[in-house]
Amino acid sequence: MDSCGARGSKELAAALKKGIKANNLPITLETNHCMSKCHLGPTLRVVPNGPYIMGCQESDVPELLENLKKGDIKALAARFPLLGTEQE
Ligand code: FES
Repeated sequence: MDSCGARGSKELAAALKKGIKANNLPITLETNHCMSKCHLGPTLRVVPNGPYIMGCQESDVPELLENLKKGDIKALAARFPLLGTEQE
């Protein structure tokens, strides 16, 4: 099974971190080793209690940033769903 790292998470995290800083968004990006959803990754999660945002890539960062600027986390979860599960 591929890890998120093999699926582009490092490039995604770097681009997202750069975009968050460039847009001066009040968001902290933290990385961790694994959230046990490797087969659907890269795995992002908005905390606290936010949904998983699954499978986006570096090329999706502009869309991620637009939704983060609007605070539209539900749109992100709908666009990059955790398949096979219900998210609140
Ligand atoms: S490595 Fe990302 S969820 Fe496991």
